[in-house]
Amino acid sequence: MTPDIAHDMVKLEALLRGHVAPHLRSKAEARILDLACGRCDEAETLIKVVKDEMAADQVKLVGADIRIREVRQARERTANLDTEFLIEDATKLGAHKEMKDFDMVFLRHQNYWHGPELWKKIFDTGLAKLNDDGLMVITSYFDREHQLALDALQKLGAEVVLSKRNDASRDVGDAPGKSVDRWLAVLKKPK
Ligand SMILES: C[S@@+](CC[C@H](N)C(=O)[O-])C[C@H]1O[C@@H](n2cnc3c(N)ncnc32)[C@H](O)[C@@H]1O
Repeated sequence: MTPDIAHDMVKLEALLRGHVAPHLRSKAEARILDLACGRCDEAETLIKVVKDEMAADQVKLVGADIRIREVRQARERTANLDTEFLIEDATKLGAHKEMKDFDMVFLRHQNYWHGPELWKKIFDTGLAKLNDDGLMVITSYFDREHQLALDALQKLGAEVVLSKRNDASRDVGDAPGKSVDRWLAVLKKPK
């Protein structure tokens, strides 16, 4: 992990503890689904925060992405953790009936404006994988893309619990207005 990424994780951990943790309930065994996870830099951070904040003895993280190289990297980097990474289209996870009742569905740097119809399906699949008390947590690189994602999620019936600009996010030089975990939102599934 590069120093920049390690620092991003420190900031992500603070965001999760400050803004997501108050909405988590205690549970002995917790499960996280990380959709479009890429190489899942956040796996260890997510597991650590959920373990502490839900007072969980066990936390399992399942990740899915279509990019083979990144998923292999995720598997290698988290070999010491309770993780499982699927090379799979997140819109097709409905077929895995056993994959359900997640306490958290996480999407880091959702990519709504690269394919609104695709991302609506990914969001819909994620919401369906939550248990009744579960939370969807998204982060976004851009202001506009974050708002588009929230609008789409609300149209799918999700309730926005909070949406927070991360003032400490690191600028990414490849596009104006882009920064790492620039926005965080917490949502509940439709009742
Ligand atoms: C902006 S990247 C974010 C990756 C990672 N979450 C991160 O924060 O670095 C968007 C990710 O969505 C993934 N993706 C795109 N379409 C997908 C699909 N249908 N199913 C699963 N992942 C998908 C891409 O492969 C890519 O890894």
